[in-house]
Amino acid sequence: MNKQIRPLKRLSIIAETFGRGLDAPELKATGASEIKQTANAFNQMRTRIKRFLKQRTDMLAGVSHDLRTPLTRMKLQLSLLKDEKAKKELELDINEMTAMLDSYVSFVRSEAPEPIENINLNKLIKDIIKNIDSKKYGINFLEKNIIKTSGRPLQLKRAIQNIIDNSLRYSDKLNIEILLSNDGCILIIEDNGPGIPDKNYEDVFKPFFSLDPSRNKLKGESGLGLSITRDIIRSHGGEIKLSKSSYGGLKSLIQLPI
Ligand SMILES: Nc1ncnc2c1ncn2[C@@H]1O[C@H](COP(=O)(O)OP(=O)(O)OP(=O)(O)O)[C@@H](O)[C@H]1O
Ligand SMILES: [Mg+2]
Repeated sequence: MNKQIRPLKRLSIIAETFGRGLDAPELKATGASEIKQTANAFNQMRTRIKRFLKQRTDMLAGVSHDLRTPLTRMKLQLSLLKDEKAKKELELDINEMTAMLDSYVSFVRSEAPEPIENINLNKLIKDIIKNIDSKKYGINFLEKNIIKTSGRPLQLKRAIQNIIDNSLRYSDKLNIEILLSNDGCILIIEDNGPGIPDKNYEDVFKPFFSLDPSRNKLKGESGLGLSITRDIIRSHGGEIKLSKSSYGGLKSLIQLPI
């Protein structure tokens, strides 16, 4: 019996590692034929997911790269233009496109493997908060526990920063809370802004989605923030959920394993 259970245990460990977005090795198919079948099915799934992720990243990197060259050319041609009004308008468009390409490129880079390190979540959040103008924003950070975990520090910081940046755009009060939970830890970020209608909770995680597209165009926001955030959190084996905050705005609840 032990001989049959060992490969199953291995499967569960490797599946969990892979589910956290970490690279996991192929499973060796040993044991009873049902267990061999399961291991083979897992290996096939792992190969397909890896191929899919690589294709997606390669495509985005390729498109971003290809678009940069004509954009640089357009910038040069622009300087020769006589019509000042048209020049200004085109300049704005080109700058906006450049900013978008930059964010796609950093989106792709975020998928390049960053080493796993020990993380003190309290400190990571304090590092983000300390750059916020305390005259403009009321920020309350409630540390119910000290949370130590492991993960990719830059990515996690980026994920949390994206949510906080959104809140700073729409509100002037932020409430951040971290605590231990049964299966890991919980991070809650709430604001007193206009929030997001229930029916759009899933939409805002889609790349390029905005509730206010005209604003996005003006400010060069690409609508990738939350989609990047969710990718990062899921790759750490966690999940993010949106709801209404008692402060009136958006409540983002992030659950992470520790
Ligand atoms: N705290 C919030 N309050 C109200 N609306 C929000 C909040 N956070 C996000 N949204 C809405 O969700 C949309 C998607 O957010 P997301 O961060 O993915 O993109 P973005 O902020 O528009 O662009 P980017 O983050 O790439 O600069 C936003 O455009 C906004 O309409
Ligand atoms: Mg954003």
